[in-house]
Amino acid sequence: MSNKAIEVFTQRRSQYALGKNVEASQEALIQLIQEAVRQAPSSFNSQSSRAVILFGEQSDKFWQLTKDALRPLVPADAFGATEGKLDSFAAGVGTILFFEDQNVVKGLQEQFPLYADNFPVWSEHSTGIAQFAVWTALAEANVGASLQHYNPVVDQAVAETWNIPESWTLRAQMPFGSNEGEFGEKSFMDDSERFRVFS
Ligand SMILES: Cc1cc2nc3c(=O)[nH]c(=O)nc-3n(C[C@H](O)[C@H](O)[C@H](O)COP(=O)(O)O)c2cc1C
Repeated sequence: MSNKAIEVFTQRRSQYALGKNVEASQEALIQLIQEAVRQAPSSFNSQSSRAVILFGEQSDKFWQLTKDALRPLVPADAFGATEGKLDSFAAGVGTILFFEDQNVVKGLQEQFPLYADNFPVWSEHSTGIAQFAVWTALAEANVGASLQHYNPVVDQAVAETWNIPESWTLRAQMPFGSNEGEFGEKSFMDDSERFRVFS
């Protein structure tokens, strides 16, 4: 059975060879990313996900501050490889920073004490869903991306550089750009170990 959603889920892959040859305009990409986050579901429709979209020099700035944050932490002889990897993320057209607003989580905990323990968990689910929505939407627009996690090492520098509200916690970074390389091999585990169907 053909299905458009499955087609685009299949099209979405981790692209590490990014470039600047993206056909879509910056404005179109902003609309796409924003709409994907907007349409992503969240617990109690709390809309706890936040996104900061960095283009061009702003994106470069993010990868530079990541380098600066990692330099003291990575052994000197391994830093060249780290630097090369970070440069490949900066080679795209932009980077999306995904946050969750902890004020929303706290507000829900106060409003619905019965579920208090669940709201932080559901917030993590929500950011993952928002990330997937953006990633697949970009893939459908023939824009490559990958998912990175340099938080919490970069949190303070990010907050200072882009004046991020204190209640926003950084959860992931998504560098994006044109697809300049093949996708890596991907294997799938056996369905029989993964699924159980009862009918
Ligand atoms: C929750 C989550 C965390 C991930 N973290 C990273 C990461 O920190 N760095 C990275 O390069 N890829 C990361 N990935 C990408 C996965 O390695 C990748 O999606 C997986 O190997 C399948 O490959 P595909 O994206 O090409 O389908 C992450 C993916 C998920 C869903």
